[in-house]
Amino acid sequence: MFSLKDKRAIITGAGSGIGAAIADVFALQGAYVYVADRDEKAACETVARIQASGGLAEAVVLDVTQETECERIANLILPLDIVVNNAGIGHVGNLLQTSVSDLDKLYQVNVRGVFNVCKAFVPRILEKGSGSVINMASVGGIVAVRDRFAYTTTKFAVVGLTKALALDHSHTGVRFNCICPGRVETPFVKGRLAEYPDPQKAYQEMASTQLNGRMARPDEIAWSTTIILELKRQLEMSYSFV
Ligand SMILES: NC(=O)c1ccc[n+]([C@@H]2O[C@H](COP(=O)([O-])OP(=O)(O)OC[C@H]3O[C@@H](n4cnc5c(N)ncnc54)[C@H](O)[C@@H]3O)[C@@H](O)[C@H]2O)c1
Repeated sequence: MFSLKDKRAIITGAGSGIGAAIADVFALQGAYVYVADRDEKAACETVARIQASGGLAEAVVLDVTQETECERIANLILPLDIVVNNAGIGHVGNLLQTSVSDLDKLYQVNVRGVFNVCKAFVPRILEKGSGSVINMASVGGIVAVRDRFAYTTTKFAVVGLTKALALDHSHTGVRFNCICPGRVETPFVKGRLAEYPDPQKAYQEMASTQLNGRMARPDEIAWSTTIILELKRQLEMSYSFV
């Protein structure tokens, strides 16, 4: 029976959407969850919800773009069993609609942020000789998504860096995987929808591009992390897609 009892996990961007749902699921499975987010209020709300359901969680204010902060938090809370690099931001636009600062901003969070967290946490997890790192990529890390030029490039980078980590650290007992969700109904997507003249129509259009004609729920993505943690542990698998 799957359980995360006695496991300690950090989830970045866990104040909202998919990260918050992963925090809920991990806590439900018995893990001690560090709910990391640059938004303290959002992190505390996730923690309060988990604690109200009898789970174990602690808020960590962390902006993943800040390298020294990642190091400081790692020194405070390691050892850990699970790291979920979920924090990420979006941008709508093709090349012509993407400025250098748009691109830099997206890289700082979506790529450099994953790197910073890995640099801070992975060495000591490797020393321990067991653990799992899960990076949140996107379907935009496998195929191009229309009018998401910068976002697509960052998520291809997340897939690439996950493969590189899995290859370089195979046979260490530490596994590196990423998840590539399609559209998930989170504040991230709802914020974008609100920018359209007809949000309801935009919702239907976005949903119709998905294979099953609807957007995923955050908890569906959260449960897919448990597939990585359990089935892939049994198979000792790294670098695959869910
Ligand atoms: N929603 C989707 O359709 C979808 C699809 C595929 C992949 N994803 C990916 O899933 C992840 C989560 O997306 P979501 O939809 O839940 O987003 P969301 O906006 O609902 O939540 C993201 C959280 O990350 C936090 N965050 C942002 N920048 C941060 C930083 N620098 N440091 C720490 N925390 C930071 C935010 O405060 C927020 O709480 C992202 O990496 C996103 O690219 C989302």
